[in-house]
Amino acid sequence: MAHYRRVGEVPPKRHTQHRDPEGRLYHEELMGEEGFSSDSSLLYHRGVPSAIVGSEVWELPDQRRTPNHPLKPRHLKLHDLETGPDAVNDRRLVLGNNDVRISYVLTGTDHSPYYRNAIGDECVYVESGSGVVQTVFGVIDYRAGDYVTVPRATTHRWVPAEPSQLYAIEANSHIAPPKRYLSRYGQLLEHAPYCERDLHGPTEPFHLEGTDVDVLVKHRTSAGIVGTRMTYATHPFDVVGWDGCLYPYTFNVEDYMPITGKVHQPPPVHQVFEGHNFVVCNFLPRKVDYHPLSIPVPYYHSNVDSDEVMFYVGGDYEARKGSGIGLGSISLHPGGYAHGPQPSAIEASLGVDYFDESAVMVDTFAPLDLGEGGLAVEDSAYAWTWSGRGPDDPAVFSNS
Ligand SMILES: [Fe+2]
Repeated sequence: MAHYRRVGEVPPKRHTQHRDPEGRLYHEELMGEEGFSSDSSLLYHRGVPSAIVGSEVWELPDQRRTPNHPLKPRHLKLHDLETGPDAVNDRRLVLGNNDVRISYVLTGTDHSPYYRNAIGDECVYVESGSGVVQTVFGVIDYRAGDYVTVPRATTHRWVPAEPSQLYAIEANSHIAPPKRYLSRYGQLLEHAPYCERDLHGPTEPFHLEGTDVDVLVKHRTSAGIVGTRMTYATHPFDVVGWDGCLYPYTFNVEDYMPITGKVHQPPPVHQVFEGHNFVVCNFLPRKVDYHPLSIPVPYYHSNVDSDEVMFYVGGDYEARKGSGIGLGSISLHPGGYAHGPQPSAIEASLGVDYFDESAVMVDTFAPLDLGEGGLAVEDSAYAWTWSGRGPDDPAVFSNS
């Protein structure tokens, strides 16, 4: 994110001597994307950021994936998913492919282990709860409705102040505002539904003392996604200052200004972020279409190049009325299959001028598999709710 930020003490010139009050040199570290060719920050450490004293296997939560075959739209009820309380170790994989994985956890109030994702950026949507995320860049507060975006390889830990429902979008790439929202130099443009004032990064350095500190690292090998527990000689939270355009930040859905129209607006107007081969959008409470003959719910659509994942987090989603979808539900509408409102929702929407609905959408350009957590909470009747009858028990479905 090309939005410069400076926190704590940094020397006037980069790559020059920066010393503590006793005259000891700080250790400068560049965290940079795409080699040395994209956004970066310079961090000044008290200790040596590469000084490890141990490296062992960290057994990750179950990462197995099951193809969506035979092809069906799916309804997954995340509020029925039981998880342990750890924001990192107890995430259960719901959906995933080789570009992005979505997992879910209901935390307790104990802090997570120190952790970093060396595969890609994480964008964690906070469905409920509050607390802080302590990072090597400093501390960021989080609350319900936040997207907590943590750049790849950022050492951090979650410290919930209260139990928190976290919807973790883990990329194999970087996650950033859509390019079309940005000027060619990286400023958010006037037509973007949010601006730099809405992005909240660390404001001061964060320092902890310690030796032999374990950090869990999620990374990849030829065998797939694996974990390693690295032990650091000194505490990784030892930064006295940093500056640059790479850092964790939060953005809250309340600060997203929905774009509306005279007739139905397509999902790209709801986009928040993009990663490689996927996008993140949100559908939020808003005034809807004002043409006298408009149909406010979506038309049927075949997204021929993408799988569409909706996570229903607030209000009452108009297009899904009659489907069994409720708060905490996920719908997966895969590529190769047309989807749209349950039929009774279309007439019901006519004349409505306001939708009280909140949903987070992830569209992927490669098919999504089901994780073990997704399979555990599937409502298998969903696929038949448009027709009103399915192969097993035609009597139980109604769209009237
Ligand atoms: Fe859709």
